[in-house]
Amino acid sequence: MGPNGGGKSTLVRLLNGLLVPDSGEVAVAGHDPVTEPFEVRKRTGVLFQNPENGLVAPFVEDDVAFGLENLGVPREEMRRRVAEAIRSVGLSGYERREPHTLSGGEKQRVALAGLLAVEPEVLLLDEPTSMLDAPGRREVLRRIGGLRRSKTVLHVTHHLEELLEADRVLVINGGRLVAEVEPGRLMADAALLEENRLVPPTVPRLAADLGLGSCRTPEDLAGAVLRRVWEGSGAEIR
Ligand SMILES: Nc1ncnc2c1ncn2[C@@H]1O[C@H](COP(=O)(O)OP(=O)(O)OP(=O)(O)O)[C@@H](O)[C@H]1O
Ligand SMILES: [Mg+2]
Repeated sequence: MGPNGGGKSTLVRLLNGLLVPDSGEVAVAGHDPVTEPFEVRKRTGVLFQNPENGLVAPFVEDDVAFGLENLGVPREEMRRRVAEAIRSVGLSGYERREPHTLSGGEKQRVALAGLLAVEPEVLLLDEPTSMLDAPGRREVLRRIGGLRRSKTVLHVTHHLEELLEADRVLVINGGRLVAEVEPGRLMADAALLEENRLVPPTVPRLAADLGLGSCRTPEDLAGAVLRRVWEGSGAEIR
């Protein structure tokens, strides 16, 4: 996370070997993306902030199959995984569409389907939901949440609520790592949030303002409010 121009996409490009660092070192699973690009790229999948940059093939289905082709996956399995990935991003029926005729959100879904078909060890997702409608965003986040159990996911976003389940949040500002915290701690640190132009989502903010502790979902908040009311009535009876 971090403000516009903070350096998030630059980090993604460094990890992918598209940029060479002026100083310091980059290692992905122990490999340098510049000197060992094959080692890094066979383990990682990148979703660029601008989906135009990621789509290369004449038809949607070829684009989604691109990563699998590079890995030499057998034809039948490839067909199955491509169809499943296209379905999982809600683009069934788009197989023979030309990527350049798609809307921004549709392109973002195609790029994501390409990653989901491969399921690489490391996923670099640069604002993967920025162009999606609300249901699309929820579905993609659910899918990313599932992948997090077995993969490493670096998820760049401007929406704090997308990171509530993250193991840790890296805050990048002015090209520097300014904080590395658990989501709950970030949410509770008003100064850190403000310095980095971050606004906590409504539910956790309301819960904090009401002194109800940490709540993530509206259901958590409703439960905490009910408990408060119950405790209050108990005190009156005594
Ligand atoms: N090729 C480049 N040459 C020079 N400066 C660059 C280049 N690419 C990015 N920058 C600068 O580096 C800084 C970080 O850019 P970056 O794209 O990493 O930001 P970001 O955190 O991804 O922002 P956003 O939230 O807007 O996507 C910006 O000030 C940008 O202008
Ligand atoms: Mg960016």
